[in-house]
Amino acid sequence: ALTLTGCSGNGDSVSAGPLITEGTLKVCSDPSYPPFESTKDGEFVGFDIDLADLIATDLSAEVEIVSTAFEGIQSGLALDTKQCDVAISGMSINETRAKKFDFSESYFDDSLALLVTKDSGITSLKTLGDAVVGVQQGTTGETFANDEGLKPRQFEDSALAIQALNNGDVQAVINNIATVEVAAKNNTSLVVADTFATEKLGVGVRAGNTELLDSVNATIARIYEDGTHKSLVEKWMQ
Ligand code: ARG
Repeated sequence: ALTLTGCSGNGDSVSAGPLITEGTLKVCSDPSYPPFESTKDGEFVGFDIDLADLIATDLSAEVEIVSTAFEGIQSGLALDTKQCDVAISGMSINETRAKKFDFSESYFDDSLALLVTKDSGITSLKTLGDAVVGVQQGTTGETFANDEGLKPRQFEDSALAIQALNNGDVQAVINNIATVEVAAKNNTSLVVADTFATEKLGVGVRAGNTELLDSVNATIARIYEDGTHKSLVEKWMQ
């Protein structure tokens, strides 16, 4: 088993614990979020899943994806309770979250977007009128909608919010741009009406596990340098 620790062996050093346990990198992710993470034929796929593989490879470890509700990820609970070593879940770096766990360097520039049905007549945030806006619970999209006074309706995952739009239960969804673009591509009656709020995505690591954080950051730096990041963007983003 691979157990790299921060201990110097002199008996009095302090360590945040093993870098990872048993040669397995456990990754919490909410797979309702293509192209970052989703399931296809029973397998986890997406940009983040490939990133997890690269991080694990650099640690000489295997990856185990732990399917986790996003609220538990962004609140820090999943990391605190050691359900996983890292959280990779299309998660935007922000101050509230950074108080609960550490973020890697950014691995993706993102933004929020408004998804509507083509026949809705909604062309921007300003023309929402009485439209009911759906958001995924615990996301930056939810915070944004609240801040705009939109009184959004919460869904446990992103796929459920988009399904509600398809069913006519809500008239708009606020979510990240790449995810709503996938939805619009899969359903020709949906369209992206507006984009706003730039964000950066990061990997969450339990506070104090600096060795693991360093390793994650080294992988991110490497994939930007050697062109792997660019190929991932080409593979997963349209
Ligand atoms: N980027 C947004 C946030 O951090 C949404 C992330 C949702 N991720 C997911 N896997 N469902 O709040």
